[in-house]
Amino acid sequence: MLPVVFATTLRQGSYTNMPFDLERARHETPGCANVLHFNNAGASLMPQPVLDATIAHLQLEAQIGGYEAAARVHDALEHTYDAAAALLHCSRDEIAVVENATRAWDMACYAIPFKPGDRILTAQSEYASNYIAFLQIAQKTGAVVEVLPNDTNGQVSLDALKNAIDERVKLIAITHAPTNGGLVQPVSAIGNVARAAGILYLVDACQSVGQMPIDVQQINCDMLSTTGRKYLHHTAQKAPVFQAGDE
Ligand SMILES: Cc1ncc(COP(=O)(O)O)c(C=O)c1O
Repeated sequence: MLPVVFATTLRQGSYTNMPFDLERARHETPGCANVLHFNNAGASLMPQPVLDATIAHLQLEAQIGGYEAAARVHDALEHTYDAAAALLHCSRDEIAVVENATRAWDMACYAIPFKPGDRILTAQSEYASNYIAFLQIAQKTGAVVEVLPNDTNGQVSLDALKNAIDERVKLIAITHAPTNGGLVQPVSAIGNVARAAGILYLVDACQSVGQMPIDVQQINCDMLSTTGRKYLHHTAQKAPVFQAGDE
């Protein structure tokens, strides 16, 4: 069950380019009274509306049952897809909400029909559990995982990417803002290369959605995973995932 505040928090005003009201955010986040919490990249402090909606929903489930509670908040849950679509600049039919971002990434990767010799191109900064999916795919299908070198800025080298492209590259997979270090990968430039070559492009935006504007059309990705618990200030339980097209 998705706590409804994710949707209702985003309902007011435009979803992106919304001026950030720091005082209101602090006021709504009770943990700010206790700690100077900088670990939003790990998991952020939950604001009171998120906490209230989560607890209220658990209480509703306890009182009337899980399915009945889900039916009662149906409209709010449905709004989640519109809110996530507006946030990511796609259509609601392109959004799926699943348990967490690792699951979303796995679902995207394992849905791709790899053959022996197919190549997966990724970056040195790839998130470890994303890379585990590649290793499993390589073991099962005979696909090959290739880690592209960095350029002098520490970002994935676009020249190396362009040079690596051939008809065997099946997937380009990049983490937008990797877990440690503050690196931001040039996901739109990579998307242009992927699009021009007709190669599937998967982006992990767990640490960028909510922290910076994200437009999947501008990134030109086919699939993008994110998580609720970081810069969307949700609980650790849910993750919207984008897939281009409605299948
Ligand atoms: C870059 C990145 N991808 C994926 C994840 C996993 O997210 P989740 O816990 O929602 O599976 C994390 C979590 O730390 C992350 O930093």
